[in-house]
Amino acid sequence: MSTLPTPSGHTAVDRTLPIPPVDQPARLAALVATIRAKTPLVPKVGIVLGSGLGSLADGLEDVTSIPFDDLPGWPAATAPGHAGRLLLGRLAGVPVVALQGRFHLYEGNDPGLVVQPVLLFKQLGAEIVVLTNAAGGVNPAYGPGTLMVISDHINLTGRTPLLGQNADQLGERFTDLTDVWAPRLRERLHAAGTAEAVNLDEGIYVGLLGPNYETPAEVRMLRIMGADAVGMSTVLEAIAARWVGLEVCGVSLVTNAGAGYSGVPLAHEEVLAAGAEAGPRLARVLARFIAGL
Ligand code: HPA
Repeated sequence: MSTLPTPSGHTAVDRTLPIPPVDQPARLAALVATIRAKTPLVPKVGIVLGSGLGSLADGLEDVTSIPFDDLPGWPAATAPGHAGRLLLGRLAGVPVVALQGRFHLYEGNDPGLVVQPVLLFKQLGAEIVVLTNAAGGVNPAYGPGTLMVISDHINLTGRTPLLGQNADQLGERFTDLTDVWAPRLRERLHAAGTAEAVNLDEGIYVGLLGPNYETPAEVRMLRIMGADAVGMSTVLEAIAARWVGLEVCGVSLVTNAGAGYSGVPLAHEEVLAAGAEAGPRLARVLARFIAGL
C-alpha cells in the first residue's frame, strides 16, 4: 500500500498503519527536516483549524504553506471543508503554525496519525496549542453560532494515541489529564472575547468517532453525561498535547443543535454555513488572544 503510485505522482500513504508512540520520534524528525528546508520560523503557538474555520488563516502574514501530501507520512486531507495545508507565519505579530484541516479518525486514520500535527507543533518549538472544531449543541442553550471555550472533554472515541510502547523522550507513560484545558488560557480567551465584544460560552466537549451524526437518544445520553457539545475530533489531539507538555486550550463553534432538538435532519452544508458565519468572529477572538500571549 505505501508504495502504490497515484495519478498525482505522489506516493500513497497508508493512513491505517498503526503508529505507536515509540514510532513517533523518527516520523517527527522527518517532518521537521522537510519543514526546516522551507522555513526557519519557530512558532510560539500551534493552531488546529476545524471544519469551516479555515478562514482564520487569512490573517496570517509571511506565510509558508505546505500541502499535507508534501509532508512525509501525511495523506491529503479528505474531509469536505478541510483544505489540508500546514501554514507557518505570523498572526498579530506572533509566530504561529496552523493546521488548515486535520486528520480525523472517521477517515480511517490511525490515532498516531491523527495527533502527529500536534506533536509536530511541539517539535517545531510551540508551547501552546489552540484546538478549534465544529460541534453539535448538546446543551439545549447552545444553538448554532455559539462559541464555546472548552473547559474539559469526554473521550468516547474508544481510542487513544498513547497505546503501545511509549517514547519516553517525548512524554511519560501515564499522562495526567486533570487540567487538560488550561485555566490560565481559558481566562485569557474570555478576556479576548470581552475585548472583541464577542460572546463566549464555556462547556464540556465530547468526542465521538463519527462519521455519522448521533441519534437523538445518544444526544440525550451525552447530555446526561454532562456534555455541552459533541464532535468528531479534538480529544485525541488534546491528550497527545498534554503527553508532550503543551499547554492546551480550545473553542468549539456550535454549528447545529444536536440531533433530535430541532426536528430536522442534520446536514454537513449546515455545519459549513454556520462555520462561515461564525468563523470570522472566532478569528477575531483568537487573533486578540494570541496577540496577548
Ligand atoms: N455531531 C457531531 N459532530 C458534529 C456535529 C454534530 O451534531 N455538528 C458538527 N460536528
